Amino acid sequence: MSNNFFGNHVLSVSQFTRVDIEALFLEARRMKASVENGKTWDTLKGKIMTALFYEPSSRTFGSFVAGMQRLGGGIIPLQGVAYSSVSKGETLEDTVATFAELSDIIVLRHPEAGSAAIAARSSRVPIINAGDGIGEHPTQALLDLFTIQSHFVNISELTVTFVGDLANGRTVHSLTKLFHLYQPRKIYFVSPKELAMPAEHIQMLTNTSIQVEQRESLDEILANTDVLYMTRVQKERFENQQTYEKLKTTYVVTAKTMKLLKRSVILMHPFPRVGEIASEVDRDRRAVYLSEQIANGLYVRMALLALILRKQD
Ligand code: NCD
Repeated sequence: MSNNFFGNHVLSVSQFTRVDIEALFLEARRMKASVENGKTWDTLKGKIMTALFYEPSSRTFGSFVAGMQRLGGGIIPLQGVAYSSVSKGETLEDTVATFAELSDIIVLRHPEAGSAAIAARSSRVPIINAGDGIGEHPTQALLDLFTIQSHFVNISELTVTFVGDLANGRTVHSLTKLFHLYQPRKIYFVSPKELAMPAEHIQMLTNTSIQVEQRESLDEILANTDVLYMTRVQKERFENQQTYEKLKTTYVVTAKTMKLLKRSVILMHPFPRVGEIASEVDRDRRAVYLSEQIANGLYVRMALLALILRKQD
C-alpha cells in the first residue's frame, strides 16, 4: 500500500482522506498490539524528533516523546522555549529552520493560529502541528476518532455532544472537521453564547448530512448522546479574566450526570480538566479520558511518526 504520509507535514485534518486515516489507524492498531506485548523497536533508529513547544503541554508532549523513543529514535525536547533564543527575539522561522537542520521532524505547538503552516514554509523537514492557538490540533482529533471507532462500529448512527469552550477549543475544531469524512448522525454544540462554535465551522457542516444543533443547556440531551466530549474553558485565550471566571464552570459532569447518560456512552475530554468533570466520575467505566484516550494518543502518534519518517516498514 502506498504511504501518503511519507515526508509530509501534518498541519490540518482537512489534508486527510478516509483512506489515509484507515492506513494510519491500521498502523496504530499494530503499535498498540506491539506495545502491549512489550516489543522493542529500531524502526526509527538514527532519526531525531524536535518537540518545539511554545505553549504548555503534558499529554501531547509526553506521548510524542514516548512514541519516538519507543520506536528507537532520539529527541530534542524543547518545552518552555521562552528559555531558548526565542527570549532574545528570534523569529519562529529562524528557530524552525535551525531545528530542521538538526532533526528529521519537528512537532510544533504555538499560541497563534496558522503558525504551523508558517513553520512548514521555513522547514525542510516535516512539521506536525501539535496545536496552533485556537486553530487546530490534528493529532488529538485523530486519537479521538480512533477512540470513538474502537467503541462504535457505525459512526453514522452516533449523536456526538461537544460541551464547553467551543470558540477557543482547537481539539473540537479539528474533530469537527474530521467528522466531514466520518459523518455522525447528529452533533450538538453546547456552550454559553460567548463561547459558541465559530460560524465558519457551522457553515461548513451545512454541506454535509450531519444534523447540527447549537444549544446552551445540556441536561435534556444527555439521554440521546453517544459520545459526550467535554472541554476546558481556555483561560489563556481570554483578555478579560472576569469573563473567564464567570464562564469557567458553566458545565460540570458529576456522578449524577452519569446516571442520565446511556450505558453505552463514552465520556471524553482532551485534558487538562479544570473542574468540568468531577473526580468521582473517573471510576465509571464509561469515562475514557484517563485511560483509552491517553493510550491511544501514544499509538496514533507512534503510527504517524513511523509513517512520516519511513517509506515502508
Ligand atoms: C488540549 C490542547 O492543548 O488544545 N490539550 C491537549 O493537547 N490534550 C486541550 C486543552 O488545553 O484544553
